[in-house]
Amino acid sequence: MIDIKDRVCEAVAGKIMSAEAAAEFVKDGDNVGTSGFTPSGYPKAVPLALAEKGKKTPFQINVWTGASVGPEMDTAMTQAGIVARRMPYQTNNDLRKAINNGSVKYTDLHLSHVAQMTRYGFMENRRCVDVAIVEACKIIDLGNGQVGLIPTTSMGNSSSYVQCAEKVIVEVNTSQPVELEGMHDSYVPLDPPNRKAIPVEKPEDVIGTPYIPCDLDRLVAVVPCDITDKVRPLGEIDEDAQKMGKNLVEFFKSEVAAGRLPANLLPLQSGVGSVANAVINGLVNSDFEDLTVYTEVIQDGMFDLIDAGKLRVCSGTALSPSPDCLKKFKKYIILRPQEVANSPEVARRIGVIAMNTAIEVDIYGNVNSTHICGTKIMNGIGGSGDYARNGYLTVFFTTSLAKGGAISSVVPFCSHVDHTEHDVDVIVSERGVADLRGLSPKERALVIIDKVANPKYQPLLLDYFKRACEACGNSQTPHIMDEAFSFHDRFVKTGTMEK
Ligand code: COA
Repeated sequence: MIDIKDRVCEAVAGKIMSAEAAAEFVKDGDNVGTSGFTPSGYPKAVPLALAEKGKKTPFQINVWTGASVGPEMDTAMTQAGIVARRMPYQTNNDLRKAINNGSVKYTDLHLSHVAQMTRYGFMENRRCVDVAIVEACKIIDLGNGQVGLIPTTSMGNSSSYVQCAEKVIVEVNTSQPVELEGMHDSYVPLDPPNRKAIPVEKPEDVIGTPYIPCDLDRLVAVVPCDITDKVRPLGEIDEDAQKMGKNLVEFFKSEVAAGRLPANLLPLQSGVGSVANAVINGLVNSDFEDLTVYTEVIQDGMFDLIDAGKLRVCSGTALSPSPDCLKKFKKYIILRPQEVANSPEVARRIGVIAMNTAIEVDIYGNVNSTHICGTKIMNGIGGSGDYARNGYLTVFFTTSLAKGGAISSVVPFCSHVDHTEHDVDVIVSERGVADLRGLSPKERALVIIDKVANPKYQPLLLDYFKRACEACGNSQTPHIMDEAFSFHDRFVKTGTMEK
């Protein structure tokens, strides 16, 4: 067995056991709350043991994470058929297929809601967490029958899951550097009617403890593990992404010049995925300095910003650093529970600039972040809604075309709406910037078609809009109901949205 003696305090030495032995604490029908966020800091050995156990003796559990987790959880457990329900976010091909064929029930939630909904007992079987399985790099003795878990590369929902679980299993992962200690800020708000303001007034504010407290008598197993995080590689920064980054920088410059943003902007929130990463990269080559980040996932682009000396502080709930990166950048980084990192209250107070990616937008400014052709889930809403509704400025990015031009990312009506027209200030594509602030729906339509849509689809969109205005007598938000999804219908039937 891997030696973890130097990473755990004496008080838990007697609880060290194999993953297979720990897996026996998980029972059929349990709610299992795990660490992990955007494949960082999730448990690996026990989920693999659970999958093996399920192949021999079928059972099913409800799996609640922070956000997306690695293949040791979502591939292995899905393929073993042991996942009954999954929440709140995923990016895994096997799981996506299982959700879209109905074999796994998926609850796609705003990420800031998950911990409190769990604590409130709102989830499907109205029970809280039966077993929490979390990854730690160290366990320290706090005295008085408590230990402190030093998390690894994510905070996610671990603090709340550990606080409310009947049983806690900790994987101590030796592939995660002990240097992570000191980066975390664990804080669990009280629930209404006793909730207080979350006291974050600046991205650098530290409000909790650098460990997750856990009662010794609920900690049932400590499992050594050395399996590494399987972080997804991000796509190359292509020409379109570079153009979107440039468009954003120009827009920011004009906002600063007009006095609507301070010279060092406001705390930046940037979504997940290749596009978001590329856009942040655009800021590396800009003149902006002394930037701050208050976001969810600290992606590669953020490290480039730190490296370029442009970032003062970077607050998030997960990161994926190389060991060298970690030593170099530790002092700039704070990892918080997602309930705090994504808190609508904090986002509104500190005035985040919310920047997320859309799958498609419609001519009135509604945004679909989650569903392909209205029916099949891609990933989930993640934290985009937490920030979009509450940001100082809310920006969505999309390339004007998808799938080699067969799809227009601007459509008459979104086939699924995650962010309504009321939440969206600005849409950026490689073609330009649609500034929608203060515009009525019909004004927005003309700006979006002009600045965001691709010339290939502009005539079709304009034709739809004009006929819709005529058909509805210029009503507030004109539509022709049996044509509103005609772009999607054509794509499904012919493989292209073109006519
Ligand atoms: N119709 C069909 N497919 C589309 C599409 C459209 N209108 N637009 C994009 N896609 C496909 C792309 O072709 C690509 O498919 P592939 O994986 O088969 O190549 C895939 O969606 C991802 O698109 P990509 O352009 O590479 O963007 P991305 O990696 O930046 O991901 C989202 C975009 C929207 C899927 C991703 O940002 C997401 O899941 N967002 C929701 C959650 C979120 O915003 N979280 C952030 C909160 S902090």
